[in-house]
Amino acid sequence: MANVIIVGAQWGDEGKGKVVDIYTEYANDVVRYQGGNNAGHTLVVGNEKTILHLIPSGILHEGKRCVIGNGVVLDPKVFLQEIEGLKKKGYLKDDAQLVVDRNVHIIMPYHKAIDIAREKNSGDRKIGTTGRGIGPTYEDKIGRRGIRLIDLVNPQTFARKVKEQLPEKNFILEKLLGEAPLSEEAILDEYNEYARALVKYLGNASVILNKSIEARHNVLFEGAQGSLLDVDHGTYPYVTSSSTVAGGACTGTGVGPRFIDEVIGISKAYVTRVGEGPFPTELNDEMGEHLRQAGQEFGSTTGRPRRTGWFDAVALREAVRTNGMTGLAITKMDVLNDLDTIKICTAYSYRGELLEEFPQDLEILKESKPVYEEIDGWKTNISGATTLGELPATARSYLQKLEEVTGCPVVLVSVGARRDQTIQVKNPFEKG
Ligand code: IMP
Repeated sequence: MANVIIVGAQWGDEGKGKVVDIYTEYANDVVRYQGGNNAGHTLVVGNEKTILHLIPSGILHEGKRCVIGNGVVLDPKVFLQEIEGLKKKGYLKDDAQLVVDRNVHIIMPYHKAIDIAREKNSGDRKIGTTGRGIGPTYEDKIGRRGIRLIDLVNPQTFARKVKEQLPEKNFILEKLLGEAPLSEEAILDEYNEYARALVKYLGNASVILNKSIEARHNVLFEGAQGSLLDVDHGTYPYVTSSSTVAGGACTGTGVGPRFIDEVIGISKAYVTRVGEGPFPTELNDEMGEHLRQAGQEFGSTTGRPRRTGWFDAVALREAVRTNGMTGLAITKMDVLNDLDTIKICTAYSYRGELLEEFPQDLEILKESKPVYEEIDGWKTNISGATTLGELPATARSYLQKLEEVTGCPVVLVSVGARRDQTIQVKNPFEKG
C-alpha cells in the first residue's frame, strides 16, 4: 500500500496528466487537491485525445474513484460540461465514480469578470492568468467571503450570499475596472440550475479518503500547475493562487502528512512556461522555436504558445526541496531526438557570483544568467523504447546527468504521448 503525490516540478504543463493516467492503474482513488480549470491535463488513449481541466485524469479508468478535494476551486459550468463530454465518450458510466467535497469554493461569474478585467488594466504588470477566475476565488476564500458548494446546494443560503457579495463585486467591476455590473437574478437562475445537476456528486473527501487509506487502498494525489507557480514557493507574484507543492495535498483534502509515502515530481526534459514572469533558461531563438514546434508547446487551456528553454537544474532543485520529492518523472524526452547537443543549466551567474540556489529575490532571478553544461544528443528516435536498456547510451547519460544535478532519482521516462510510450524505472506504489 502506498499513497503517492504527483506534482509539477516546473511551471506547469509538465505532462502530469499522462503520468497520473499511468499510475491510476495502481490506485483506488485519484484526487485533485488545488487549482481549478486553469489546469489542462491532456491524455491520449489509443488514438483518442481527452483534455481534462477539473476532473481527475483517473476518470478514464473504470472502477477508479475520482475525488475533488476541498482545496480546489470549481467552476460549476465547466464541471458539468466536462462530465457531459466524458459521458458522451463512454466514460463515467457510474456517477458514484466521482465525488466532490462540499467545502470546495465555487468560481462565480464576478470572479471571472474581475480576473479578466484586472489583467486587461494591468499593462506590463499583468500576470498572464488563464482568465478563469482562479485568483479572485481564492482571495474570497481566504477573505472568508467565499461561496462553497455546500452553500450553492441550499437555495436560501446561496441567494443570501450572492446578495451580500454582489454590491461589492459590482462596485469593483463598475467603478474600478470600468466593466458592466452583473445581475443578481441571472446569477441565481444560472447557478441554481447547476446546483440541481451537481448535488449528486457531493461528499466528504476527507472522510472518504481516510477510510480508503484505513482499508489499505492506494491513493494518488494529482497536483495541478507546477511548484514554481506555488503561491508561497513560486516566482511570486507570477504564480497561481493555490499551494501547488506537495503540502497542498494534505490541506486540500483533509489527509494528514503521515499517510503520504512518495512524492513524484514531473518535469519535462526541457522547460516551458506560459504567462509572465522570470525564466532564466528561456530561448528566444531558433532552438526555442524548435522545442515549441517539436513539443507542440501550445496551452491546452488557453491555446497560448508556451515559452521554451533548456532544463534548469537550479529551479528543479528548488522543487525537489519544497516538495520533499522522492522521485522524478521525465517527460517529452523524445522532443530532444533531433538535437546535436543538449544544454543543462546547473547554476546561475549573477553579477559575477555563482548561484547554486534558486534566488528568493525576483530582481536577482530576473538578472540571473544560466551556467550551462553541454552534452551530446542521441539523434535517434527513442519513442519505441520501453526500458532504459533500449535507450542509446547518450540518452541514458542525459538521464544520469539529470539525476546528478537535481539529486533526485528518475523513476519514469516518457518518450511519446501514448500510454505505451513510457519507461517505468521504479513503481512508487511498490515499496522497497
Ligand atoms: P491563474 O492560475 O489563471 O491565476 O494564472 C496564474 C499564472 O499561472 C499564469 O502565469 C498562468 O499562465 C499560470 N498557470 C495557471 N495554470 C496553469 C497550468 O495549468 N499550466 C501552466 N501554467 C498555468
